[in-house]
Amino acid sequence: MGSALGREYIRRGWHVVGVSRKSQLSGEFLSELCTNEQQSGEDAQALLKYNPDLVILNAGQIETEIDPKGIPLTEMTESITRINYLFPALLALEASKLSHDRILDIVAIGSIADGSPSAFGPVYHASKIALHYFFSGVGPIVYNANKNVRMRLYRPGAIKGPLSWAPVNRLNDKGYKIRAKRCESAPEANEVARTIARWIDGNEWIGTYKEPFSFKIFKWWFALAPNSFYRLQVFGWRKGSKFV
Ligand SMILES: NC(=O)c1ccc[n+]([C@@H]2O[C@H](COP(=O)([O-])OP(=O)(O)OC[C@H]3O[C@@H](n4cnc5c(N)ncnc54)[C@H](OP(=O)(O)O)[C@@H]3O)[C@@H](O)[C@H]2O)c1
Repeated sequence: MGSALGREYIRRGWHVVGVSRKSQLSGEFLSELCTNEQQSGEDAQALLKYNPDLVILNAGQIETEIDPKGIPLTEMTESITRINYLFPALLALEASKLSHDRILDIVAIGSIADGSPSAFGPVYHASKIALHYFFSGVGPIVYNANKNVRMRLYRPGAIKGPLSWAPVNRLNDKGYKIRAKRCESAPEANEVARTIARWIDGNEWIGTYKEPFSFKIFKWWFALAPNSFYRLQVFGWRKGSKFV
């Protein structure tokens, strides 16, 4: 998605600074490379020195490795939480300290997975939920303090590519088939990037890419009856995981 977004903004005539932890990266999707670990407040300050009009916080990680019982790994939990939630939050806070004479849009890429917790990608879901809560909670304070700094969030659905397949590492055959359907019918990154860029042109605070009806039901269930939602997860794990 990062390269697809870069390509879209190059096509629109923008100067695109591609941010990566890699020290070498070239392609038609960036004007220049900024190597940055995206871990700390200092890393965020280094990005803001480019004096951007738009920051898209797209880097993200999912649970590609789990322990033999499906339990999240400590290191991966730390890393996912840092890149999916903590760094976007730190960047927004650092941006709020600067004096801007024009609009700076900070767009975090969330996920429709943020609607409710899931035993089939719990760390990813938790990090995206935290990201959504932070942007919706802190964004209004920052905007009130400085009308030129807008913290916004876009929630994509599944995108064709490896990240969307990661939840299958906990699923049994039946669950795999359901997930495979979603992954195979997912749109290409280029299409999603165009949709996101068009959304950024508008004024919405939170954008959502086609959320399946089942996701909406889970979201309401979780909000209205959290204890029974937990029971549903216990039941779902027994039915859908490869570890029982
Ligand atoms: N794919 C989906 O189905 C889907 C659905 C909803 C939301 N999203 C969100 O959309 C965004 C882009 O997803 P994608 O499908 O393009 O994922 P991707 O192909 O796995 O790319 C993720 C990018 O994030 C970078 N990254 C991962 N962990 C990092 C870390 N710890 N520190 C710094 N950079 C890190 C990777 O850099 P390297 O190249 O250096 O590894 C890679 O460039 C993510 O925020 C994802 O959560 C994706």
